[in-house]
Amino acid sequence: MSASSKPRRLRRSQLAVPGVSEKMLTKAAGLDVDHVFCDLEDAVAPSAKEGARQTIVDALNNLDWGNTVRCVRVNDVTTQWCHDDIISIVEGAGDNLDTIMLTKPFTAADVLFADKLLDQLEKKLGLKKRIGLECLIEEVEAMHNVWEIAHCCERLECIIFGMGDYAASQGMSVKDIGEATYPGDLWHYPRYQLTIAARAAGIDAVDGPYADFSNPEGYAEECKRSLILGMVGKWAIHPAQIGPAQDLFSPSQADVDLARELISVYRQAEAQGIGSVNHQGKMVDAATARVFQNIVDRADLIGM
Ligand code: COA
Ligand code: MG
Repeated sequence: MSASSKPRRLRRSQLAVPGVSEKMLTKAAGLDVDHVFCDLEDAVAPSAKEGARQTIVDALNNLDWGNTVRCVRVNDVTTQWCHDDIISIVEGAGDNLDTIMLTKPFTAADVLFADKLLDQLEKKLGLKKRIGLECLIEEVEAMHNVWEIAHCCERLECIIFGMGDYAASQGMSVKDIGEATYPGDLWHYPRYQLTIAARAAGIDAVDGPYADFSNPEGYAEECKRSLILGMVGKWAIHPAQIGPAQDLFSPSQADVDLARELISVYRQAEAQGIGSVNHQGKMVDAATARVFQNIVDRADLIGM
């Protein structure tokens, strides 16, 4: 499957839901959100991890998730849980699952472990559709290896900047997960590097958590920064963060109308053998059309 034939899924908001909480899983299924990941990693204490697998399997099989992408976040490959997480979830709910999210890879080989395990499970269970893979970039080694990770397998659909663990891995001094109190933008370099790798691989770049869910202004600012760089969405750790992310990562109708107009202006010029034209005091050329085509592509995916 080539990059362009990968499933195209909306990820404007990815809601984190602790896999131990039936209440929150039920609530999440009823929310209007692009993507939910049921968590087996940090939101679940070691003593509760094995029980949480069944709670998630039941939620995937029994709740109506509508059009929401259903993902399960599993523990990393250095733990005793990773393989059993993937096997239990896929054997229990493989037909009601869209993607698996892998945590804390260091190298592409870590992601390939999950890829090969999913290959085996899909064959064994005769699953009708391929389960996608998403992975966090949250270790300094992974950031260094992000190009190889992004390109490592056809199954990979998305890489996510996990700034909480990343800050720890780099030894950064930060107060709150996701907050960037630094002259300039603390997250600029890792977000930029990750987004370049994702775009080159034809996969989605997504921005990670913002812990202070009572600070909508701070959250919106981080959404805008990652959007400008080419990321397609941001995590929500609380339902209050879903609406803002889904709005901010959607072009406005005016943006879409302008994009379609500029592309049309360029096509008409091109048909007359002209490469660049003056449109209301601004230059429009092939690169303009390409930039604005991204907005049209987003609008098409959203159904605008
Ligand atoms: N998913 C689904 N529902 C959630 C939710 C989530 N992530 N976070 C909160 N809710 C629900 C609550 O259960 C509550 O439901 P109710 O109104 O039906 O009672 C409602 O939303 C309002 O929640 P609120 O009381 O404001 O927050 P809280 O104290 O219940 O929860 C957190 C706060 C931070 C503990 C909770 O949001 C959470 O666990 N978030 C996810 C953490 C996580 O997954 N971390 C790992 C990835 S970074
Ligand atoms: Mg993490």
